[in-house]
Amino acid sequence: MKPTVDPVLDYKRLVAEGYNFCAEIYEPSSRQPLLSAIKWLKNKLPNRARVLDIGCGNGLPLTRELAKRFAVTGVDISFEQIRRARDHIRHAEFFHSDIMGLDFPVASFEAVVAFQVIVHIPRGEHERLFRAISRWLTPGGYLLVTLARESQEGYLQSDFFGTPMFWSHYSLPEYRALLTETGFDIVDIQYEQTDFPLALCKTTV
Ligand SMILES: C[S@@+](CC[C@H](N)C(=O)[O-])C[C@H]1O[C@@H](n2cnc3c(N)ncnc32)[C@H](O)[C@@H]1O
Repeated sequence: MKPTVDPVLDYKRLVAEGYNFCAEIYEPSSRQPLLSAIKWLKNKLPNRARVLDIGCGNGLPLTRELAKRFAVTGVDISFEQIRRARDHIRHAEFFHSDIMGLDFPVASFEAVVAFQVIVHIPRGEHERLFRAISRWLTPGGYLLVTLARESQEGYLQSDFFGTPMFWSHYSLPEYRALLTETGFDIVDIQYEQTDFPLALCKTTV
């Protein structure tokens, strides 16, 4: 890992090209904990509730699981990942975009999920993203977001499935404060001792 915040490097492009490059061989860690979180969401929301999946990747297995019950909109910065997601899940809407370049009308979704994606977005943008998500959600809407445990302004991993990858995140206590400031009640934090704790949040109404 190489700590870096290089004003010249285009981190968004590096991430997009990285996920394009490794699409064939990328193997995520076990998705069972995240599938359990989706089950939790299914118990909270009615059928056909609108769910935004930020950084949906190739859609397997999480977007597919969401789309069994909900009206899903998936967004991913990697063309190759979104192409695969469109192939895998026919009855969902997909956008190929940096989430930071998109906007949705107020109260567009009953839930937003962001599984293992914000760690690839420069952390200086996380506050703006959380504020946008809180606007996009209906009052009392849910946010399920994978966070990080340690604070790292930005670093490059030289070999992530054969390609460089960029990571940037706050510590878990900083995320707790940021989520509260940007309009969320934290209902639960799961897997707190792992590298990727998962926050289950609700907008404050
Ligand atoms: C580790 S994968 C997670 C995929 C899926 N959410 C899952 O948990 O299985 C991270 C995904 O986030 C996407 N991503 C990274 N930065 C993004 C951004 N700024 N906007 C949208 N998607 C982004 C990547 O292209 C990649 O597909």
